[in-house]
Amino acid sequence: MIEISKLIKKADNKLILRGIDLKIGKGETVAILGPNGAGKSTLLKVLATLIKPTSGLVKINGLELRNNQMKIKKLQGYLPHSSLLYEHYSPLENLVFFGNLYGIKNAEEKAVELVKEVGLSFFLNEPVKNFSRGMIQRIAIARAIIHEPPLLLLDEPHTGLDQGAISILNNVILSMKAKGTTTLMVTHDFKQAADICDRIVIIKNGKVADDFRMEEKALDTVSEKYQLQVEGVS
Ligand SMILES: Nc1ncnc2c1ncn2[C@@H]1O[C@H](COP(=O)(O)OP(=O)(O)O)[C@@H](O)[C@H]1O
Ligand SMILES: [Mg+2]
Repeated sequence: MIEISKLIKKADNKLILRGIDLKIGKGETVAILGPNGAGKSTLLKVLATLIKPTSGLVKINGLELRNNQMKIKKLQGYLPHSSLLYEHYSPLENLVFFGNLYGIKNAEEKAVELVKEVGLSFFLNEPVKNFSRGMIQRIAIARAIIHEPPLLLLDEPHTGLDQGAISILNNVILSMKAKGTTTLMVTHDFKQAADICDRIVIIKNGKVADDFRMEEKALDTVSEKYQLQVEGVS
């Protein structure tokens, strides 16, 4: 699904990504861990075609990133730190807008269904500007999946969510996984990573520091490997 080789990203003469090599297969659910400033969001932005690599090769579904930005965008649901929602619009209006943008059929029906799925039916027609951070995040999740993309790119998706919303998000990820969706999720939440991901990639100083499979859902393994790679403790 994703092939990254020798990916380098410089900004203001500073090396942010220093040669990332990473292959992610279709249907994998991968957590990206690493300290603040490691380059995790930058990596996701490159994959989401929001910023251009300085050098290196990136392919998504066999398509080279450089020449296929529009096709690649349609394959993805990208959830960044900011919600991308229009705050004067209601959840329904926002989701119909994005649904139409992606050219999906029955955008309104799908929007109503998704708002229900994220537990906010009661607020279907309220402007998003009155919403709490967690409510906005729920609608942002619905926005990211409205076109049923085969690839999800999630940047700290659990931040600001209450327990109910965490379960909703995890169910969304797992039910999309069951349909073959690939997920790449930046997180600081080891528990969520261990619970829903089948592989962990640790990024440090713009490089892959570790990359391992989660055989059983072992939270201890994630903490131990993170401490070893990032904090130098064994
Ligand atoms: N547009 C930019 N120009 C200059 N430096 C940037 C830019 N974007 C990110 N950086 C720097 O790159 C590093 C990695 O940022 P980021 O990918 O957001 O880290 P992470 O998501 O792992 O916390 C940080 O030191 C950040 O300040
Ligand atoms: Mg980040």
